[in-house]
Amino acid sequence: MAKGTFKTPTEHQIKTTNQLQRDFFSQRIHVFDPPLPEGVPERLKKIVASAKIAKGDVVLDVGTGTGILVPLIQAYEPETIFACDLSEAMLAHLREQYPYAKTIATDVRDLVLPDQSIDIVFLNACYPNVVDKPGSFKNISRIMRSGGRMVISHPMGKSFIDLLKEKSPFPLDNFPKKAEAEGLLEPYGFLIQEFIDEPKIYILVATKHHSR
Ligand SMILES: C[S@@+](CC[C@H](N)C(=O)[O-])C[C@H]1O[C@@H](n2cnc3c(N)ncnc32)[C@H](O)[C@@H]1O
Repeated sequence: MAKGTFKTPTEHQIKTTNQLQRDFFSQRIHVFDPPLPEGVPERLKKIVASAKIAKGDVVLDVGTGTGILVPLIQAYEPETIFACDLSEAMLAHLREQYPYAKTIATDVRDLVLPDQSIDIVFLNACYPNVVDKPGSFKNISRIMRSGGRMVISHPMGKSFIDLLKEKSPFPLDNFPKKAEAEGLLEPYGFLIQEFIDEPKIYILVATKHHSR
């Protein structure tokens, strides 16, 4: 497969799509409340386990929403959990349940954290939504420590995005296949360590390369 690169959206596309998403998710906060669909809690545990979080790690959950992953991450006793999302309303709901998480309302491409300060990054059910992928992966790579791990995942599998696309008021990208993902992420210093693409779960674990 051709290596390919991420599309570079215009500033106008980024701003208008992000605003559509902010409005959309801010009105659907309770869709993400438990009970979750059958099998999803177990698959979310598998997704978080794939990051191999060590006690004391600093973890970032990108597009955290209402923080579905946050208590699962907390079980590994990280030093800090940063939870970033476009929607302040989602983050307000998250803080009510998980006051220990540090929430930041921003597009991840603009997330201000020190260089090489993060050990683990999750993008769960969020990769298709990120409009400025070049800017976002550049920033994620900047803030990650060498040897750190980034997990891109979906607990319903990548074909679930096709169902969402039918009703979504904003564009959604597909999750990449392995060869495509290698080409897309390598320029940002990521090497794929694990790749699971099954009907009901998608997990890509990439390690931040030492030389970047
Ligand atoms: C489908 S929800 C998933 C929420 C959560 N990760 C989960 O698994 O339940 C996608 C979330 O990503 C957020 N989002 C989309 N693009 C983003 C970006 N560029 N930076 C930060 N958050 C983003 C949206 O606001 C939304 O809350």
